[in-house]
Amino acid sequence: MRDAGEHLIKWYTKNQRQLPWRVDKNPYPIWVAEIMLQQTRVETVIPYFNRWMAEFPNIETLAKAPRDEVLKLWEGLGYYRRAHAMHETANLLIHEYEGEFPHEIDKLIRLPGIGPYTASAIASFAFGQDVLTIDGNIKRVMSRWIDLELDPGSSEGEEILRAWATETMPLDHSAEYNQALMDIGASFCSVSNPACEACPLNKWCLAFKRGTQELRPIRSPKGPTPSHTAAAAILFRNDCVLIGRRPEGKLLGGLWEFPGGKQEPDESIEACLVREIEEELGITIEVGLKLGTFHHAYTHFKITVHAFFSTAIAGDPIPHDHTELAWVPPTELDQYPMGKVDRSIATELVRTLNKTDQP
Ligand code: ADE
Repeated sequence: MRDAGEHLIKWYTKNQRQLPWRVDKNPYPIWVAEIMLQQTRVETVIPYFNRWMAEFPNIETLAKAPRDEVLKLWEGLGYYRRAHAMHETANLLIHEYEGEFPHEIDKLIRLPGIGPYTASAIASFAFGQDVLTIDGNIKRVMSRWIDLELDPGSSEGEEILRAWATETMPLDHSAEYNQALMDIGASFCSVSNPACEACPLNKWCLAFKRGTQELRPIRSPKGPTPSHTAAAAILFRNDCVLIGRRPEGKLLGGLWEFPGGKQEPDESIEACLVREIEEELGITIEVGLKLGTFHHAYTHFKITVHAFFSTAIAGDPIPHDHTELAWVPPTELDQYPMGKVDRSIATELVRTLNKTDQP
C-alpha cells in the first residue's frame, strides 16, 4: 500500500490547492492558518488570513499589538478564545522561546490554543516531521479509503487510521501526504455525493470498490442541539448607547455586547429583560419598542435574541457581570469588537436610526 502513499505525494505536488499559507515553511503563517481553519472553512479564512498577515506579519508584531486590535481583525471568525490564545502564544514565544516556535510537539502543545492537531500540523508542514494531522476531513477520507466500519472519532477507530497512515505515509513527506488528504477531502471526498470517479485515490479506495462511500464515515448518533432564547436592551443616554465587555475566559470573552441575558422557563421576554438588567447593571428599566429578533447557531447550541429599546427608570449602571461598560455613539459601535449576534444588533440599530432620522 506504499504505492498509494507515493501516488498521493505525486498528485499533490502537481495538483495542490494554491493557498496563501502554503507559500513557504515559515511556522508563523502555518500556525495562523491552522488556528483560523480550526472551526472555519478555507474560503472564509483566506481574506482573514491575508488581512492578518498584512497587519501582523510576524510573531513580534502580533505580540506587541493591543488586544483590541487583534480581536477586531478576528471579528466574524467566531470562537474568539482562539484570538486571545494566539496573542498570548506570541508573547510567550517572544519572552520564553527567543521569538521562535519550538520544534518539539510536547513543547508546542504547551502553548495556549495549540492542541495535538495544531502541534502536529506545525511539526509536519513547517518542520517536516513524520506525523499525521488527523482532522475531521482526513478522518472521512481515510475511513472511506479503508472502508472503516467503526466511528473514526472513537479511540479504536482513530487507532486504526493512525496505524494505516504509518504504513502508507512515505518518510520525509508528511506535509505533502497530510495536505493531499486535506485537498482530496475538500475537492472530491465530500460528505455527500463524493466525486469518486475523479478522485486520485479511487484505485485504492475500498469504500469505492464496495459502493459504501455514502455510508462512511460511521457516526455515533448525537442528541439534538439545545436552543436558548435571550433578550438584550438598547439603553440610550445623551445619544450614546450602553455596551459592556464580556469577561475573558468565557464564551466570547473580551468582546462587547448589549446587556441582557437568557430567558428562564415560564418568563415573558420583557420580564426576562427587566430581571437580567437588574442583575447585570443594578438598574430598573422599562422595556419599549422591539428593534428586532436575531439568530445565531454555535456548534453546541442555537440562540435567538430579542432586542428592545429600553429606558432606565431607576439607578446608575454598575458592571456586575462585565469587566467594563461604555456609552458609545451608535456610529462608533463598529470600532468595538463584538460577536455575530451583537454585531447584527448594532448594524440594525444604526440602520433604524438612520431611517428614523431622515426628514
Ligand atoms: N484545513 C486545515 N489545515 C489546512 C491546510 N493546511 N490546508 C487546507 N485546508 C486545511
